[in-house]
Amino acid sequence: MTEPNQVAGVLAPDGRAVLPDGDRAAPGPQESPWDIEAIRAQFPILSREVHGRPLVYLDNAASSQQPHRVLSRVERYLREQHANVHRGAHQLSAEATEAYEDARRAVAAHVGATNPAEIVFTRGTTEAVNLVASSWGGAFVSPGDEILLTKMEHHSNLVPWQLLAGRTGCVLRFVDVTPEGTLDLEDFDRLLARQPRLVAFTHVSNSLGTINPVREIVARAHAAGALTLVDGAQAAPHLLSDVSRIGCDFYAFSGHKMCGPTGVGALWARRELLEEMPPYQGGGEMISEVRLEGSSWAKPPHKFEAGTPNISGVVGFGEAARFLAELGAEAIESHEAALKRYALERLGDIDGLRLYGPRQERTSVFSFTYGDVHPHDLSTILDQWGIAIRAGHHCNQPLMGHYGISGTARASFYLYNSTDEIDALCDGLALAAEVFGGIS
Ligand code: ALA
Repeated sequence: MTEPNQVAGVLAPDGRAVLPDGDRAAPGPQESPWDIEAIRAQFPILSREVHGRPLVYLDNAASSQQPHRVLSRVERYLREQHANVHRGAHQLSAEATEAYEDARRAVAAHVGATNPAEIVFTRGTTEAVNLVASSWGGAFVSPGDEILLTKMEHHSNLVPWQLLAGRTGCVLRFVDVTPEGTLDLEDFDRLLARQPRLVAFTHVSNSLGTINPVREIVARAHAAGALTLVDGAQAAPHLLSDVSRIGCDFYAFSGHKMCGPTGVGALWARRELLEEMPPYQGGGEMISEVRLEGSSWAKPPHKFEAGTPNISGVVGFGEAARFLAELGAEAIESHEAALKRYALERLGDIDGLRLYGPRQERTSVFSFTYGDVHPHDLSTILDQWGIAIRAGHHCNQPLMGHYGISGTARASFYLYNSTDEIDALCDGLALAAEVFGGIS
């Protein structure tokens, strides 16, 4: 998404990138030059029905869908190129290794990393954060050191630090969240004055959709002498997430939220940090030399990729990064901004619906409660009409506690969603109100 000279466009059904229709007089209901039908045609699952109705898939913050070209690239890898990587002298191993390292280059470009060796493949964002907490934290955090988190962190950027605190005696502190759902930056400054070793925070909240002022937070943290880790799971699929512009030290993200497979993600980290951090796991691939008395390590990123990796997943992840790059980050952002405006307008008109999170500086993730209907009941009812949303605490129990609720319903949109699907959600909510005998 950060490649220069990208052309914002659409993909033809065969997967080629084509220019948007410049002759179109007005963008139409999508409010953006985005051929939604051509985009949707790339995603086979979107044409299926659920309970006899067209699928309306609005659970993209949990996991996005995969286009033909990702599916077919993984299949081609498995059918024609599969072997173990970095190990064999034979042709297949060379091809598998090239496919794997080619994916590393595409994934690096996706987050603006100029050096692919700064990308460590992991099982996902969760493992990327655990890697830093375990390796960097284990080596460089001492009893009494402070790690600064926020009250809007996903459990994956909270529990690994709790485990580190249990092992090392470091202290966790949490930046407050305002009633609007933004970070309280005065509270942040107060806690920064305590000189934490690390500030670990989310780029975009998975529950509130809040886009945090990531560059400002990183700059302030660095000025206070702290390193920074950014959880990019909900940002990398949707926004231009350029680590060189953000200036952070660690950036974690997942493949399956950005049109790639599950079970694969990445940690980007500054080369010097990867050099000085000890291995996260031991095994094959991560060593330079092994003796019975002890071993030496391979250079990063291989130092952190012990064992046979998820090769087909990585290949699919790389293809997903290329798919997004060809669409263009700005075009994706612009389409999602149009969806967001429309959803805010439509959902804002529904009696009894309470939306969480800010109106500005947010992505198209909408958490809401609907009268006193339990979010799980709402999700079950909507599912009967083919509408997939998530309900619950969204791995954000402390944030839900902050708002005094146990959970919300959450509709989250992506590049292939349409305004028609927002209408379908609103129609579904109206029908649900009838089922529940009105909303109070
Ligand atoms: N982190 C994913 C979500 O927010 C699973 O739904």
